[in-house]
Amino acid sequence: MLHRPMGTERQAVLVTGSSSGIGAAIVRAFAAEGAYVAVTSTARSHAAGEALAREVGGVYLEADLGDPAAASDLVERAVEQLGGLDVLINNAATTAVIPHDDLDAADAEVWRRILDVNVIGTWQVTRAAVPHLRRSGAGQVITITSTSATRPTGSSIPYAVSKAALNHLTALLAKALGPEVRVNAIAPGLIETPWSADWGEAHEYVRREAALRRSGAPEDIAHACLLLSKTPYATGTVMTVDGGLSLL
Ligand SMILES: NC(=O)c1ccc[n+]([C@@H]2O[C@H](COP(=O)([O-])OP(=O)(O)OC[C@H]3O[C@@H](n4cnc5c(N)ncnc54)[C@H](OP(=O)(O)O)[C@@H]3O)[C@@H](O)[C@H]2O)c1
Repeated sequence: MLHRPMGTERQAVLVTGSSSGIGAAIVRAFAAEGAYVAVTSTARSHAAGEALAREVGGVYLEADLGDPAAASDLVERAVEQLGGLDVLINNAATTAVIPHDDLDAADAEVWRRILDVNVIGTWQVTRAAVPHLRRSGAGQVITITSTSATRPTGSSIPYAVSKAALNHLTALLAKALGPEVRVNAIAPGLIETPWSADWGEAHEYVRREAALRRSGAPEDIAHACLLLSKTPYATGTVMTVDGGLSLL
């Protein structure tokens, strides 16, 4: 178990869904700044999550955020292992790739799975984290949403709607939890991770059309996360980091 030395300036950071992609880059970025970090994933990526926790001198915790009890239990285990909680990064999410005009494919089961993990899972983790974040004195939440929250794009309609809910949740919680806890979000465009590995055409489109002519790297989002975390007057904001994709 890790315990923060008394009087330490080191932050305790929990990053959900951090065994790969954007979450893993966020873990590395905060660890490089000296934070104690908890890496999480489902059982599917247990080995990768453990390896990353070892690499950064943090801890690994398994939890499927589709299970409401597991979501709140995750926070208690993280606090126990890290010795407190200063920053919660809500990054875990799931999707289904469904063309938006195929309404029958987006059935109630698909909607429930996506909303359970992306919205209710995020809510449960955040709710459990708030008492600890208040105690921190500089507590904050950063949620990874998507540009599909505000544009008619994204891997499926249920996914885009779940991310729109998280953008609004960011505003609602920022108002409810200030001044003790800051709440912000980052809306990535297309980022090169295992999630988007098969989306060749989409990457081609971004390389050809978006202002910065490239898909994002996970480190681009991790960089934005660090920046927001170090911006003490920002709360309730959704920072778009998409290489100009939303300008199209
Ligand atoms: N890549 C993009 O283009 C892009 C664009 C906009 C927004 N985003 C957002 O960025 C975030 C990270 O995505 P990524 O691209 O880095 O994907 P990724 O590499 O596939 O990582 C997803 C992470 O979430 C975890 N996860 C999935 N379902 C979970 C569940 N039910 N409970 C707990 N953890 C779960 C995964 O763990 P397991 O492997 O164990 O499932 C993994 O650690 C997501 O919120 C996504 O919506 C991505």
